[in-house]
Amino acid sequence: MKITVVGSMSTDFVVTTDIKPNQGETVIGKNFTTAFGGKGANQAVAASRLGAEVSMVGKVGNDAFGTAIIANLESTGVDISHVERVTHSESGSAHIVLFQEDNSIIVIPGANNEMLPQDIETFSDQLLASDLVILQNEIPQATNEAIIDFCWEHTIDTLLNPAPARSISEEYIEKVSYLTPNEHEAAILFPGQTQKEVLAKYPNKLIITLGSRGAVFHNGKEEVVVPAFKVKPLDTTGAGDTFNGAMATALLNGKELPEALGFANLAAAISVQGFGAQGGMPTLEMMKEHSSYEKKWDFK
Ligand code: ATP
Ligand code: RIB
Repeated sequence: MKITVVGSMSTDFVVTTDIKPNQGETVIGKNFTTAFGGKGANQAVAASRLGAEVSMVGKVGNDAFGTAIIANLESTGVDISHVERVTHSESGSAHIVLFQEDNSIIVIPGANNEMLPQDIETFSDQLLASDLVILQNEIPQATNEAIIDFCWEHTIDTLLNPAPARSISEEYIEKVSYLTPNEHEAAILFPGQTQKEVLAKYPNKLIITLGSRGAVFHNGKEEVVVPAFKVKPLDTTGAGDTFNGAMATALLNGKELPEALGFANLAAAISVQGFGAQGGMPTLEMMKEHSSYEKKWDFK
């Protein structure tokens, strides 16, 4: 079962602080570190650590960050044959402030913005060989739409994690197989509609993540909340990415949506106890060690 992630790869520049500066103010923070990030790369790594066969499609700059990003993906077992290096843009970066167990992020897309609709020609065979294609919103919208169109025409399932939020037309919501906003993103995607209304409108397709409360979807009859695991988070950066990578892995292993979301909640709960978007992402072995794993998520 093959997953292809088309999307962003970045370096995260992470600052931890006890005081957040107001506009025009300077404060002394606690720590600075760099980590691997980008929603695309994070989701690819999450799925690969959980045993999925994953290919990454995207662009990095011809710089040291790009070299490190590619090496990191390779070391996690992600196929990087469709990761291209571009000379006219720097590698993507994300500038993250961790404050009171939550993050605020500024993304500079760089090479990620060089993913253009016409590039599909160079990786159409990869899409055709995929059981599921995962997308996020850190590459241009036109490129995502061209990929969704292509997959729709060739009946390849797609999962769009619409993060960061940007509006999406009804046509593309219809064409994707799964749409996974968090609550904030759902409110931007569906202005003027209640969460209840939109969940019922897109049964078994729209999954809204609820942070420490888990995730919710509508099964065609009723709303189903799949509760999160109670943990003490260290860094929630990448929780959504772990959730998406894990959910995709479980679905491709034949799990129904409620079970897949339970698996995704467990993977994300483990990940938020580690530092950095990818730092805490579990392997399948780590999942199995968790007391609530039992055998309910064993894959064939
Ligand atoms: P991020 O942008 O921080 O990567 P997100 O905002 O996209 O995440 P959330 O809804 O906050 O997404 O979280 C995604 C999933 O991660 C949740 O559905 C849940 O399974 C898990 N999760 C997040 N925060 C916690 C927490 N504090 N405790 C347990 N699980 C959590
Ligand atoms: O979802 C978390 C990711 O969002 C970070 O790794 C950062 O790169 C931002 O794009």
